[in-house]
Amino acid sequence: MPISTPKRLHVITWGCQMNVYDSARMADVLAPLGYAPAEGPEDADMVILNTCHIRDRATEKVFSELGRLRLVKNARAEAGHNTILAVAGCVAQAEGREILARAPYVDIILGPQTYHRLPEMVAQAARAAGTVIDTDFPAEQKFDFLPDAAAPQSAGGITAFLTIQEGCDKFCSFCVVPYTRGAEASRPAAAIIAEARRMVAAGVREITLLGQNVNAWHGAGPDGTPQTLARLLRALAEIPGLARLRYTTSHPRDMDDDLIAAHGDLPQLMPFLHLPVQSGSDRMLAAMNRKHTAADYLRLIGRLRAARPDLAMSSDFIVGHPGETEADFEATLDLIRSVGFSQAFSFKYSPRPGTPAAGAPHQVPEAEKDRRLYALQDLLRAQQADFNARCVGLTLPVLITGQGRHRGQIAGRSPYLQPVHLTGPAELIGQEIMVCIDDAHTNSLSGATLKEKACA
Ligand code: 5AD
Ligand code: SF4
Repeated sequence: MPISTPKRLHVITWGCQMNVYDSARMADVLAPLGYAPAEGPEDADMVILNTCHIRDRATEKVFSELGRLRLVKNARAEAGHNTILAVAGCVAQAEGREILARAPYVDIILGPQTYHRLPEMVAQAARAAGTVIDTDFPAEQKFDFLPDAAAPQSAGGITAFLTIQEGCDKFCSFCVVPYTRGAEASRPAAAIIAEARRMVAAGVREITLLGQNVNAWHGAGPDGTPQTLARLLRALAEIPGLARLRYTTSHPRDMDDDLIAAHGDLPQLMPFLHLPVQSGSDRMLAAMNRKHTAADYLRLIGRLRAARPDLAMSSDFIVGHPGETEADFEATLDLIRSVGFSQAFSFKYSPRPGTPAAGAPHQVPEAEKDRRLYALQDLLRAQQADFNARCVGLTLPVLITGQGRHRGQIAGRSPYLQPVHLTGPAELIGQEIMVCIDDAHTNSLSGATLKEKACA
């Protein structure tokens, strides 16, 4: 029997879309215990800090945020209210013991693999049994224990994320994910399809499949035959009412023939692909343990664009990985020039304790990393501006996701993931309409419905 004393939950989410999804699922598992969303930490009976430490100096950030939350907890205690304070996510996984030592007022520490045990941990914490710590990689799959997602996971409910895979076995030299999120684990196809159907029934029109290594997803068909992401996408494309599909994040080594073909023959699969390459230098790619060359990446993009000529590309880049020379960096700029990205993310290499690159010789000085990042971002910004400018004058199908910032405005996204703003009635929310693009900005487009304006 669910206990239903009304209580308030506040979740603070840092990091990637995966963490946004996880926060929503933690809220889902706590709902039967009577937890409804709080306005902020001050009126919350439970606060979860869902952390990420892929790049930032996250540990210090966690302690400073915890210091702030401790004051809130103390103030509430003086007013006679108990507050359960939980730290979740990757920092909890990696630094659980340190949190325990430095912030003993934290009640629960849980790693990304153990969210389904949250209700039990809350019960223990409520009984004041001291800090509850759970950062194991359990043999059971956490997916098997989570309740069905109650509601779509994003604003307005027109677009939603659906986690289909977690963890990673690739062990890139710089990355903590294999240590914090554990080995690659795929959710069964039937559970994914059922969740997607529920999302569509609740009004979702676009689903983004999520995973740290999403294209490593694998499952088994009803007859036990192995299935890959392409098969899953084909099955999802059959759900009536599901207009758009996307997936992120992929590894170049897992782009198989069938997935490339799916980009050509699944109209629901949007012509936009985030495919991190990290570097354009073969020497750096080897040092990063990426197990492919720059030429392999370029060949792959050639094949994808042969299947889907208007495919827009996005990527992740790291500058200043240990050992990176000026020539290596130039090779990255060359790769960027050869591909032409519609958007991209770029980062200064930041050593993560416990990863091979953190202890490698020839660390690049900070000032040099800054200079390279600046130059790289300059080039990427120019490519994004150019891509957006080339959309002006085109008529694009735009999925309207909500109201715009100004009265009478609505907003949506293009097939290439650009935000699009236009004037139009709120009734269009949830529809995919043809929009004549008449202006381009740094990160977005504006346009008009065809009724208002005939495109050239
Ligand atoms: N330093 C800098 N960037 C990193 N990333 C992952 N680990 C690090 C690190 N130690 C970047 C990669 C990855 C993205 C999610 O974050 O580019 O693709
Ligand atoms: Fe990290 Fe991605 Fe490399 Fe896996 S493939 S180790 S998640 S960067």
